[in-house]
Amino acid sequence: MDSTNYRCFAPCPRGLEAVLSRELEDLGIAATSRTEGGLSFTGPLETVYRANLESRLASRVLVEVGRAPYRSEQDVYKAAYDLPWPDWFAASRTIKVKVSARRCPLKSLDFLALRIKDAVCDRFVKTTGMRPSVDTRRPDIRIDAFLDQTTATLYLDTSGEPLFKRGYRRASVEAPLRENLAAGLLRLAGWSGTEPLLDPLCGSGTIAIEAALLARRTAPGLGRSFAFEKLNDFRSDLWKRIREESSAKQLPRSPTLIAASDRDAKAIEAAREHMSQAGVQEDIVLSHRDLFDVEPPAPHGIILTNPPYGVRMGHQQDFNEFYSRLGRWMKHRCAGWTVCLFTGDLRLPKLIGLAPARRIPLFNGGLECRLYIFPMVEGGMRRRKTSAPA
Ligand SMILES: C[S@@+](CC[C@H](N)C(=O)[O-])C[C@H]1O[C@@H](n2cnc3c(N)ncnc32)[C@H](O)[C@@H]1O
Repeated sequence: MDSTNYRCFAPCPRGLEAVLSRELEDLGIAATSRTEGGLSFTGPLETVYRANLESRLASRVLVEVGRAPYRSEQDVYKAAYDLPWPDWFAASRTIKVKVSARRCPLKSLDFLALRIKDAVCDRFVKTTGMRPSVDTRRPDIRIDAFLDQTTATLYLDTSGEPLFKRGYRRASVEAPLRENLAAGLLRLAGWSGTEPLLDPLCGSGTIAIEAALLARRTAPGLGRSFAFEKLNDFRSDLWKRIREESSAKQLPRSPTLIAASDRDAKAIEAAREHMSQAGVQEDIVLSHRDLFDVEPPAPHGIILTNPPYGVRMGHQQDFNEFYSRLGRWMKHRCAGWTVCLFTGDLRLPKLIGLAPARRIPLFNGGLECRLYIFPMVEGGMRRRKTSAPA
């Protein structure tokens, strides 16, 4: 590991790679390559800290510490054993090893994780006489291994808890969107934080909260800690400076209107709690109301929402009637607005009776989804279609 130029990999929900690349560029970080589900980049410690603090879209920031060809479990053990782990963290830290793979010929990834853990501990014993213990629930240090057909790559996870855990979500709520996916949807919808935004099916409020944080230029990581604070090379002076610079950029209030509503009182309660935890309760107009009673609160703006759908909500209800009413609501009430619907139900355009201008493929965990974008033309019920179906 070159401490002046770290090789990093930032995984993200599949479908967000291009917008993550643009987000990192805005932070002054140029991606060196892009794969399905993440981006590579290089930079000094400052880049590692800044990406962790400021990225709304990345799931983690991993720093590559080793890479070696392999044929057997023993080769992977040796590759891990050869690395100077005690240079990077103390034996008093707890660890967890996670292995993922694509086209890896070896039989068991669990066994590989065990062998890598053994290698790290054996290396510690040889060098220091002590060994770290394993904590699979709340480890201090996470070690990631990725194996393709021929090469094993080892990473130190500098984030710890994944970056979508911003620290504002407390209540257990049904089917919430991951925070980084919500932030990615805002980017894909083209929302820049300056025009009105409405989420009329807001559930626990994730889209509105991410919008408010974006509009106020509040770094998503300001309210949490990171694994890099537990590494030997942690520079508290540098970290303090980066946090202070980021805090100084914040606006006192969102410069634009953000509105959210839901018909479920429990969801509204959770949304209110999350908004207050995130410190954005003053920025969002939250109301308890049925979608079909909502009047968009300005002549123009972006509606970004995540309607209920069978698989995600966990029951076999027929949503056909809901969707055709949704289509009518869009036609009658949303002229002048761009409506962006994120769903795992790929029949949505048919069910609402409108042709989207764009359909953007995305994954919510393992579930294939789409962000459908409908610019609602002013002056009534005309349809507008600007691109071919995906
Ligand atoms: C998939 S969830 C949204 C989750 C949300 N994006 C989050 O991150 O928590 C869909 C939401 O639509 C709400 N909903 C369903 N039908 C509704 C209606 N007719 N009017 C208002 N809200 C409705 C449900 O209560 C639920 O909270």
